[in-house]
Order: sequence, then C-alpha cells, then structure tokens
Amino acid sequence: MPDFSVDRRGLLIGAAAAPVVVAAQEPASAQPPPGRDPSGAASTADQQRRMKWWHDAKFGMFIHFGLYAAHGRHEWSMENEAIPVAEYQKFTAGFNPAPGSARGWARLAKAAGMKYMVLTSKHHEGFCNWDTKLTNYNSVNYGPRRDVIREFVEAGRAEGLRVGFYYSLMDWHHPDGARCQDDPAARRRFVDYTHGLIRELMTNYGKIDILWYDVSWPLDAEGWESEKMNQMVFGLQPDIIVNNRNRLAGDFSTPEQTIRAERGGRAWESCMTLNDSWGYQRADDNWKDPRTVIRNLITCQPHTSVYANFTRKGNTLYMHVYFWPGTDVSISGLKQKVLSARLLQGGPTLSVTQDGFRTHITGLPAAAADSPVSTIVLECDGVPEQDTLNVRVNKPRAGIGI
Ligand code: GLC
Repeated sequence: MPDFSVDRRGLLIGAAAAPVVVAAQEPASAQPPPGRDPSGAASTADQQRRMKWWHDAKFGMFIHFGLYAAHGRHEWSMENEAIPVAEYQKFTAGFNPAPGSARGWARLAKAAGMKYMVLTSKHHEGFCNWDTKLTNYNSVNYGPRRDVIREFVEAGRAEGLRVGFYYSLMDWHHPDGARCQDDPAARRRFVDYTHGLIRELMTNYGKIDILWYDVSWPLDAEGWESEKMNQMVFGLQPDIIVNNRNRLAGDFSTPEQTIRAERGGRAWESCMTLNDSWGYQRADDNWKDPRTVIRNLITCQPHTSVYANFTRKGNTLYMHVYFWPGTDVSISGLKQKVLSARLLQGGPTLSVTQDGFRTHITGLPAAAADSPVSTIVLECDGVPEQDTLNVRVNKPRAGIGI
C-alpha cells in the first residue's frame, strides 16, 4: 500500500499592490451584500476588505490529492492515457490517506512560513473528496471512507492557517461533463450539479477563505452561469476570495509555473509545482531545491540587483542576498534615507553611508551569514523605493582619461 501521508505539495505565492484596509463587517446572508460586484472585476472597498489577509499572507501550500495519487502517474493520466472510467475508478482501492495526514500537511505548511492551504476538492477526474449528497463518487463511499475535505479544514484551522478549496469545473467522469457543450439539457443538468457541489462546499465546512476554480472547458462564463455561481458563493461566504478561472475576473489572477506581476496593480497569485507535476507522479524526480524555492519566493518584488532580491514591509526593506559579496554590499538608487541596518539573524548594527545614488553597507561578515540567502534589514525613513534610472542618468561621470 503506498504511503499517502505527504502526497504532493505546491506553492502558492500571493502578491500585489498594497491593499487599502476597510474595517466594515458584513453579516452572512443568502444574498451577496449590496455593492458586491459578482464578477470581481471592480476593485471595490469590499474586495479590498476581503483581500487584506491574503495580501499580508503571501505564501501558501497547494495540494493536489485525489485518485491520481494512488495511480502515481500525474493528475492528467486519466485523459493522457485514455483510461476507461471503469478502470480508473479502481484506483479508489489504493486511495487511502493515513489518518492524521492533513494535520501533517498543515504542520509542514506552518513550519515553512506558509499562511494558507488550498486542497483539491474535485480535480478533473471528477472524484469528490468530501461527503457530497450529489454523487456517490466520493471519499466517504470509496477510498479512505472519510471526509477528506473536513479533515483538511480542521487541520488547517488547528494550525492557525487559512483554508481554501480548489474546484475543477471540467469533469472527465460525469456523463454530462463533455456533452454539456452541445446538448442544452445536459448543460442544464451539469451546471445544476456543479453549482450544487459548490453550494455544499460553501455551506458545510464553516468559514472558507478561498475558492480556487480551475479549467472551465467546455463552457464559457455564460454557459457556467458564473455570475450566479459567484453570487451564491459570496452570499454563503461573505469574506471569501475567488480566483479568475470560472471565466470571470474574480479577485486575483493565476499565472501558472511562472512569476509574473499583473498589470495595473491587479492582485495575482503564482502557482508553482515543487517538481514538474501537480498530482503525485512517482517518476518525477525533478525537484526544486530549497535554494530555488526561496529564490522564487523573494523574486515576488520588482526590485533586484544581480546578487539579491528585495521585499518590504512598511518602511522596512529586506535585502535577501543570495550571492554573498563579502564585508560590504551596496544598493543602487534607494530613494529613502536608511536609519539603521542589521542582519536578520542578529548581530551588531551595520554601518551605512549614502551619497544620493549608492547605499553602501559595511561591517558585514566576510562569509555569508546564512544559507541559501542572508537577509539584511534596513529601516528607512519612508516606504523603500528604488530608482536605478536616476542613477544611470544623473550619477556623475568622468571626463576622458583619469
Ligand atoms: C493546470 C492543470 C491542472 C492543475 C492546475 C493548477 O490547469 O491542468 O492539473 O490542477 O493547472 O493550476
């Protein structure tokens, strides 16, 4: 029996422009609150309120867990290998997560500094990881014979993490999953089924923080009745945030396997695998090493040098140095005055001089203070910003000859 205690982990990296905090509280109701844009397209005060925690969280765990974990040949194997439904269903026999697995995931996420987790409630294979009343193809009737979603939600909460559900609109198991494209009666049935499943997820597990839709094939937003879908979701979960994969803008965009900021300050979350597969693929050993994962994480702010990345919180600038230069480091074009500098891990205050172009930090140890990155913390007199163009244009140049 394979051990499913840790199946597949992924990263969710949330980032975007700083949110405005709006303190208004809204009661739970069947209807979305007035002023709510069900498409999520407009940046409303309500959206900013719901997104506040997520902007602060920045780092989450994305877990793909379903029958494909028992098969061990990637979550797309059912389609890629054209496995007949009856044969695929037999993977239920091997889908048997050890009790307490979800708690293990949650502990791992917390220890890694993640603030939220998102689990596949139903992937493209159509198997439901919860106690649904709408299909018997679920984890209570087959496989673990437990409500995997409930265990996940409870585990996340026990570790103080926010929790979200991934939900694939595309379904390779349901008889109407493909024919809904051309058959109006099939579409009606399948859309009702889909909305019904989402309603269960939004009703039976308390407060849910994220709904992460995936693959909308074969319908468009109109076909899925996506506005109605989001309206129901917001009515049941007034604080939830939703992504953009039900063909509406939602609250955030979802670049996949790449770190790419959205234009215009729109919120985005980059999802990345730790090897090259989302679901368990036993032959995939192309694991990212910790150095790569950390480098990816610190790439989520726009400012760079050739040996460091930067993040900031309020007036504090964090310089994450991955190629340690020695006893001094410099930042080009920092516009703010540095009030103090130190290594994150402690030690004496560092010396800083600034000449309008260069911020020069001295007194560092000759060897890297930490691995794979060493972080220097700079307290500034304002929100740190970098202007390297000013350096290129205005830094004094010499005449010909020295
Ligand atoms: C892609 C893959 C899907 C995976 C998702 C995660 O859409 O098809 O398997 O769940 O990416 O973002």
